[in-house]
Amino acid sequence: MRLLTALLLSTCLLTASPWAQAEVPEGRPFGETKDGVPVELYTLKNDHGMTVRLMTRGATIVSIEVPDKDGQSADVTLGFDDVAGYEGDGNQYFGTTTGRVANRIARGKFKLDGRTYALAINNEPNHLHGGVDRSLDKVVWSAEGFESDEGTGVKFHYVSPHGEEGYPGTLDMTVTMLLKADENAIVIDYVATTDQATPVNLTNHSYFNLAGEGAETVLNHELQLFADNYTPTDDTLIPTGQIASVEGTELDFRKPHQIGERIKSLDDTAAIGYDHNFVVNGDWGQLRPVARLKDPQSGRVLETESTEPGVQFYSGNFLKGQAGKGGKVYPHRSAICLETQHYPDSVNHPEFPTTILKPGETYRHTCVYRFTVE
Ligand code: BGC
Repeated sequence: MRLLTALLLSTCLLTASPWAQAEVPEGRPFGETKDGVPVELYTLKNDHGMTVRLMTRGATIVSIEVPDKDGQSADVTLGFDDVAGYEGDGNQYFGTTTGRVANRIARGKFKLDGRTYALAINNEPNHLHGGVDRSLDKVVWSAEGFESDEGTGVKFHYVSPHGEEGYPGTLDMTVTMLLKADENAIVIDYVATTDQATPVNLTNHSYFNLAGEGAETVLNHELQLFADNYTPTDDTLIPTGQIASVEGTELDFRKPHQIGERIKSLDDTAAIGYDHNFVVNGDWGQLRPVARLKDPQSGRVLETESTEPGVQFYSGNFLKGQAGKGGKVYPHRSAICLETQHYPDSVNHPEFPTTILKPGETYRHTCVYRFTVE
């Protein structure tokens, strides 16, 4: 009896102890794709009130719940309740890992090692976000939960065969998403290798509204971008090759501005709002600040850091009032994306940092989304 009491007591002490081991997250069934492939959902939690849900289809961030300044929790990313939602017309890359080449490739064409490649044109007249049926947001990745000193996470893995969506080379990719134990941050680490030279540009396409998904606008959020320059484009959003200063333009977010403050003047441009690639200050390859987004009402702040040369700031201009989680509606400009990545159409711009990955090299990209309150 005494032994039993001692055992019970020590179990209680262990679980209550600050050194108690976090559990290794396990995948739970989340339904299946229309082709019958099972999809799993992983739930990560830390002790600071942050919960992240990740699914194997598209190595997707399904939800991010974080507290506001009064401790009230809300889910700050757009998404759906089930796989069918993600497979439907309403899904505009919500939370997905995007590639093989995120963003646009002019007319879907590029030359590499003397060969011309032609990819799907899915954003007239260009190729967008890796293609149509087998782009990375649509395939089911294998996954493994893990627990480390830094927190808990999921390691996603996918091998894209040579020729998939028209891209050369077998591309082996690992995307690790870690929820930090000591702060409300998710760290995304991308690693890729290939057996043949191929363009690679991976990103995460989460849509954020810090008032909570389903809030009707994001135009009241304040945004700061650590970018003195951007890449001007033609009217199909393909960079001209120029690197221009943001000074004196509505793209100047070097000091915080409300997203809605100057957006009207972009209504009649090709981007129909903000849909621009910014050149992040500092040396790429190093983790450095990219953006700071604040919702003054809830006090929630999202800080983005990355090792990538650019960030696509997209103000949800094509959101169309589709129904998302719990039937909530996602209107025009009700969320923004901060897609850390290389510049659009880099494969056709030798003057830009290269996106070509060669055999023997390793593609690496780290992106941090950190949530605080103020
Ligand atoms: C692009 C937008 C596009 C959106 C699709 C963004 O990354 O920059 O032009 O409409 O993705 O959801």
